[in-house]
Amino acid sequence: MSHPLQRYLHANGSTTSSRSSGAPYALVTGSTGGMGEEWAYQLAGLGFNVIIQGRNRSKLEVVKKEILSRPASKGVDVKLLVTEATIWPNEPLTQGLTALMNDSSVRLTIVVNNLGINSVSYPRFETETREDVASIIIANSMFPAEVTRLTLGKLKQHQPSLLVTITSMAWTNPPPYLSPYCGTKGFDVSFSRSLYNEMWAEKQKVDVVCMAPGQVVSGMHEGEPGIMVPTSEAWVRAAITSLRSTWWTPRPAPFIYPWGPQRWSQAIADWLPSSFSSWIAIQMALSLREKYWKKMGIDGVQS
Ligand SMILES: NC(=O)c1ccc[n+]([C@@H]2O[C@H](COP(=O)([O-])OP(=O)(O)OC[C@H]3O[C@@H](n4cnc5c(N)ncnc54)[C@H](OP(=O)(O)O)[C@@H]3O)[C@@H](O)[C@H]2O)c1
Repeated sequence: MSHPLQRYLHANGSTTSSRSSGAPYALVTGSTGGMGEEWAYQLAGLGFNVIIQGRNRSKLEVVKKEILSRPASKGVDVKLLVTEATIWPNEPLTQGLTALMNDSSVRLTIVVNNLGINSVSYPRFETETREDVASIIIANSMFPAEVTRLTLGKLKQHQPSLLVTITSMAWTNPPPYLSPYCGTKGFDVSFSRSLYNEMWAEKQKVDVVCMAPGQVVSGMHEGEPGIMVPTSEAWVRAAITSLRSTWWTPRPAPFIYPWGPQRWSQAIADWLPSSFSSWIAIQMALSLREKYWKKMGIDGVQS
């Protein structure tokens, strides 16, 4: 039976690429934890070779070992891209990715711009350091832009192909104490939407999709899973399913909330007066900040 990403596996002979040159590659950024690690496992499980990016080689080796140990992904090729994400200019990224893109055996058909970082302490904006603010902007905006700039040529060469960029539900109703993060997530949405239109204008079969998670259990958001807070494994499974094409939607939508309950809550929020939406965002941020303070033993009155 075909799976939701069959179109990008080029296994039905309907593409310009040759099957005999091996399975296509998928690149996932931030793949040593959370949703990125899940993207790597699930894409490899669907038959893609994978390029996994992370800043820590030994963590990447652990993910590679796990991929190769799973029966569903037996025999896939796993390449490592080791680079920090918060430096600019990012020579290890540019050089590493350029070398991979110049390798004619790497038939890239999927890129997942997953990596994103946040300040978990919910600081007042004026107390943040210049370095903290810059790190978030570089990792969440400049890093995916550079990854895309370096890979888009390959995605155009091996059509149909897919470019996913992960934003956040925090983009539409930005909580307080997260302004650099929310700003970059707005960048991700417009960046992705403009590229979607660019591919359409140029009649390219590069499907460009921006996906918005709400809270998902991961390194960024620890805690118990629930109906509104899926595990990373469940969220990525829903994300991949949401990319399935049908006869009435031959290409994925440009913007998707993959997790059903979060999608429905967003639909309700869209109908609420903005003052009420702001109140909800404030309450959520205050409660998460208090949890963080408790965990770190910080006295909230003095902070
Ligand atoms: N989780 C949520 O609730 C949530 C909600 C909305 C949107 N999102 C978005 O979903 C995406 C994935 O988030 P996630 O929660 O799965 O992430 P996560 O678990 O916090 O992060 C996992 C990956 O990010 C890497 N990373 C963290 N800090 C880094 C840094 N300074 N430099 C380089 N790499 C770094 C980690 O590397 P190491 O293993 O080396 O630390 C790991 O590979 C992000 O774009 C995020 O903004 C998440």
